[in-house]
Amino acid sequence: MLGSVLAVLLILTLQTHDRAVEGLEQWAYDYTKYHTMDEISEWMKTMERDYPDVVSSIIYGNTYEKRNITLLKIGLSSTDPKKMIWMDCGIHAREWIAPAFCQHFVKEILGSYKTDPKIGEMLRHLDFYITPVLNMDGYVYSWKDNTVNLQYIYKQK
Ligand SMILES: *[C@@H]1O[C@H](CO)[C@@H](O)[C@H](O)[C@H]1NC(C)=O
Repeated sequence: MLGSVLAVLLILTLQTHDRAVEGLEQWAYDYTKYHTMDEISEWMKTMERDYPDVVSSIIYGNTYEKRNITLLKIGLSSTDPKKMIWMDCGIHAREWIAPAFCQHFVKEILGSYKTDPKIGEMLRHLDFYITPVLNMDGYVYSWKDNTVNLQYIYKQK
């Protein structure tokens, strides 16, 4: 069930991919490159500030190294019960593509929910709980020195 919902969402996302993304162009976050944990945290705050009607953040845990694990909740308020979709990215520290995908996904939704009735409808029925980087310690560690042995990170973090 969740799998098929995600598949539909992915299709929706891909369909919106090439559309001009309203409002986000002038902001300098580069979605085509990988970002450090600090940059991603800053990006999360920016999303929350720029889209207060749809985005809120929740700290729901701490890592071993005492970092706050934070998610973005994305959805429009509704009086009807809503389904939730949980997305964790950045579970394996070395797979930088996963957090990048999550951020891209958020950008696409936020850039189109006002203009695309399908995305707006989706946000009225669903709340996304998106954690761009779940394994923050491993992610930070993987950025420290690009000569570190990736196999080592994978085993230890
Ligand atoms: C984690 O969040 C709490 C509550 O917002 C805050 O006081 C604390 O400074 C945060 N810790 C880190 C490491 O960001």
